[in-house]
Amino acid sequence: MPEPSTIQLDKLLDHPSITDAVADVNLELKERIAYQPPVCNVFQSPVTTLVTDAQYRFEIDKESHRRLPHIIANTVQRVEGGDGVALAAKEKYKKARNIGIVFSGGPAPGGHNVIAGLFDAAKRINPQTRIFGFLMGPDGIIEGDYLELTREQVDRYRNVGGFTMIKTGRTKIDNRMKMDLSRATCQQLGLDALVVVGGDDSNTNAAFLAQEMFDDGIQVIGVPKTIDGDIQVRDARGKVLCAMSFGFHTAARAFSQAVANLCTDASSDVKYWHVCKVMGRVASHLALEVALQTHANITLIGEDLADYVDHARLEKAEKAGVVDYTAYGMTLRHLSRVICDAIMDRAAVGKNYGVLVVPEGILEFINEIQVFIIKLNTIIGNYNKMHDRDFHTALPTLDDKLEYLRRLVRGIRSDLSYNVWNARDDELFNDIPAFFQEGLLTERDSHGNFQFSQVKTEKVLLDLVKDYLGILKEKGHYKIGIQNAQFVKTMQKGGLDPELYGPILFENWQRTHHLMVKKTIISKKTLKAALVRADCLAEKDSIPAPIEKIFDQSVPKFKTQAHFYGYDGRGSDPTRFDCTYTYNLGQTVFSLIANGATGQMAAILNLEQDFAHWRPIGIPIAPLMHLEERKSKLELVLEKSIVDVNSPAFRVVKMFRDKWLAAVPGEDHFRHPGPIRFAGNSEEDRPITLLLNALGDQPSIKDGARDEQASIQDQ
Ligand code: FBP
Repeated sequence: MPEPSTIQLDKLLDHPSITDAVADVNLELKERIAYQPPVCNVFQSPVTTLVTDAQYRFEIDKESHRRLPHIIANTVQRVEGGDGVALAAKEKYKKARNIGIVFSGGPAPGGHNVIAGLFDAAKRINPQTRIFGFLMGPDGIIEGDYLELTREQVDRYRNVGGFTMIKTGRTKIDNRMKMDLSRATCQQLGLDALVVVGGDDSNTNAAFLAQEMFDDGIQVIGVPKTIDGDIQVRDARGKVLCAMSFGFHTAARAFSQAVANLCTDASSDVKYWHVCKVMGRVASHLALEVALQTHANITLIGEDLADYVDHARLEKAEKAGVVDYTAYGMTLRHLSRVICDAIMDRAAVGKNYGVLVVPEGILEFINEIQVFIIKLNTIIGNYNKMHDRDFHTALPTLDDKLEYLRRLVRGIRSDLSYNVWNARDDELFNDIPAFFQEGLLTERDSHGNFQFSQVKTEKVLLDLVKDYLGILKEKGHYKIGIQNAQFVKTMQKGGLDPELYGPILFENWQRTHHLMVKKTIISKKTLKAALVRADCLAEKDSIPAPIEKIFDQSVPKFKTQAHFYGYDGRGSDPTRFDCTYTYNLGQTVFSLIANGATGQMAAILNLEQDFAHWRPIGIPIAPLMHLEERKSKLELVLEKSIVDVNSPAFRVVKMFRDKWLAAVPGEDHFRHPGPIRFAGNSEEDRPITLLLNALGDQPSIKDGARDEQASIQDQ
């Protein structure tokens, strides 16, 4: 046998295939980095100006007037080309500046391009301008941790996902000390402007920073970021100012691809229900987009559940002369029943598999859970206010926390929360599984938000669904429908007469495509009894094999696979839409800064249209703010936008619910959006919700909606 030749490792490592394989940068990344997003027309002009757009109106909260006096009079400003601006203004525009930028909150694809857009615009106007990136989120401002960004660094991350370049964090600059430290950092760095790239809470922070540093001449500009898609801004008359935060499209596409792949697997292997929780802390925008992209069999939308009214229950109560308030909104138990019904309906046509999409924040919209979340938020907030150590450090284990809640029931009045938690709350709370209790008591984030991503929502739901399906199976309701032709074939193959056995076995013999075993036949014992009763089998004989086979096929096993799509999509490389959107947001930020704006949020109008129609603007943050309860006190914040159940996107999904559930014979209607394609023309070039909701703003369609409403009322 010939000696095996030894491969020389050093030669191997020099081989181009190996160098390519082990390099950190591959061809795909090189292409991404090299891509130059187009810029809106105005950014081609030598300078830009800001023009107030007077058509927008706001209902301003008194508290915003009181707390944000320097920026409350801001208006919506259009960025326009400014060839004709006066020399003095041009000089001011072109001066060298120091600009700081910070990422705040969870990562969202496209963040690096905000930096790139700002960097390119600023350096084009004045190469002496310096851009500083604050490290690890707002902590970087508080602690004075920053990096001066070089072209090399910026180039490395163009069109690339994540916030890797300068990282991010969730710290809120929410007290005097943090505010003073932040201000000191900005002053020491000689900043002309600070850019806060973040969600609703971070843009709230941007407004307070703008107010605080107004007299220092330090401008603060916000950028609407969050995969959750819950920064959608309209004026008081409903005119769109910001249709979608950046990062939403990419995350939704990444989730959709994964969910669509599961649809393929589910319909091939036909044995699993895949339960897919998708991110979105409160609002269900991501789940809604996934529904439109994939046509998964069931997609729950939290906002829809909150809107639910149980009319049967209301009528019953009305007859008894009482009002049943529990008929408004959906309980967890009721929701599990709705899911079970859908699962049973599919099983009846032989489809004991499917894909269920659950929004991460769904619990926020379930009556009893919402009450727990609010009460526990208050209890934790009160505890932290009253004690030296915070709730979670002082009461580390679940038992400690439960004991504390019990003390509240006993009404120890020295405690601020003694009247928040009563015996009924305690009883209901003790009724839920420990892992879920732990989830509900989990530490709130620095903004006082409940951390939905820490709770196994899908497990809570699945456990209830499994329990109830078990009951339905015992009662003979949950069965797999047997194809008529298959039954006939199996009988004939076994030498049995289908006409004889059909009426004994099935409740809908010959009436339909799929046959349902009678509800009374729930075991081999009851099957045999039915055959004996019909004189088709003697007591001593065993069930004929073909009949046993058919019965076995009708008995469902409810097998599930749970998935969580969140961090993966959040870390995905941005779609072309998000690359272009964010690069132009960065350019908009520079125009706002160079024209002296502060307390504004950069945005782009007409995102649903072709790029040629995109229009950069500045939105005043202060007039959008209102009072909301946070950490058990009222705070002035930017409102989160949740799914509007009257929006076209939601109504389309609702209209197609039955079709996509596909509880009828035949194929499912799954849609395959495919992977995020960076090159080439793609039909998936912007969020479908964005396109549909924009249709709702067209006058002709708005009227149509009114007609439809009227006709529903007439019926
Ligand atoms: P932002 O609102 O900060 O963009 O974050 C959104 C989000 O991705 C939610 O979808 C999710 O619930 C949450 O962040 C997860 O937070 P964390 O990163 O702290 O686990």
